[in-house]
Amino acid sequence: MTSSHFSPRNAQAKATDLHAKASPDFAAKLAETQALLRRAAAEFTPVTQASSLGAEDVVITHLINSLQLDIPVFVLETGALHTETLALLERTQAHSRAPIVVHRPAHESVMQFVRQNGQAAMYQSIALRKACCGVRKMEPLARALKGQRAWITGLRQEQSSARAEVPLIDDSEVQTASQITPASPSAGLCKLNPLARWTWGDVWHYIATHKVDYNPLHDQFFPSIGCAPCTRAISLGEEFRVGRWWWEEEAAKECGLHVKP
Ligand code: ADX
Ligand code: SF4
Repeated sequence: MTSSHFSPRNAQAKATDLHAKASPDFAAKLAETQALLRRAAAEFTPVTQASSLGAEDVVITHLINSLQLDIPVFVLETGALHTETLALLERTQAHSRAPIVVHRPAHESVMQFVRQNGQAAMYQSIALRKACCGVRKMEPLARALKGQRAWITGLRQEQSSARAEVPLIDDSEVQTASQITPASPSAGLCKLNPLARWTWGDVWHYIATHKVDYNPLHDQFFPSIGCAPCTRAISLGEEFRVGRWWWEEEAAKECGLHVKP
């Protein structure tokens, strides 16, 4: 190869090469995950998978499809996702057996928010950042979860200290149906976290083994991918979620999707 063929892009290491490494008990974890997904389809209906199209979520959708489970998948397309994520969404819609339902924010609410606060409102204050998440994520989430009994997420214990106790089956919100508000659209629902115990190495081992299509941003050191204005790549040794809302204190870093009332 001549030097003219060399570019940072083709020099990139693949996330699969960098991270795939199964835990010694991976087979048991996979069996536990498959059993939970089968139970979800049998005992927790109506149930739906929440997918950000990140690495964990493409694994879960792949499992739903390979087990031929009747579990639809929804994606909150906030209007601020990376082009790479939108392209993966299109490919997933074309190839998935399970239906992929896309929920977008109300156009008028987004226009009004941007008119009042500007395109860069999220960097001005935590209140404005949360208001943006409210319009672009939480309101569509309420529509996505309406009428559901349970939802499936890609939360893992290893992702952050706030998630260290994430259980496989989280029924802590089941008794709170009367508290459904715009800030807590998941009140009353059971949350299933089939990858709760998986490591990052397990996730990439599954992706590599099954050649699962994934977001190429993962090859550019984006482990956790949200909206484009609020996600950056991380450096060697940095924490997993450090690239999300990187200008904020650690404690503020949730968009509300997984915050309990
Ligand atoms: S967030 O709360 O900080 O945004 P994170 O990106 O770690 O969450 O994703 C955790 C889980 O929330 C994902 O595995 C997925 O189940 C759900 N999720 C996050 N973003 C979306 C999205 N845009 N659409 C649907 N589900 C999402
Ligand atoms: Fe808005 Fe950023 Fe929240 Fe996306 S993550 S909804 S762009 S504040």
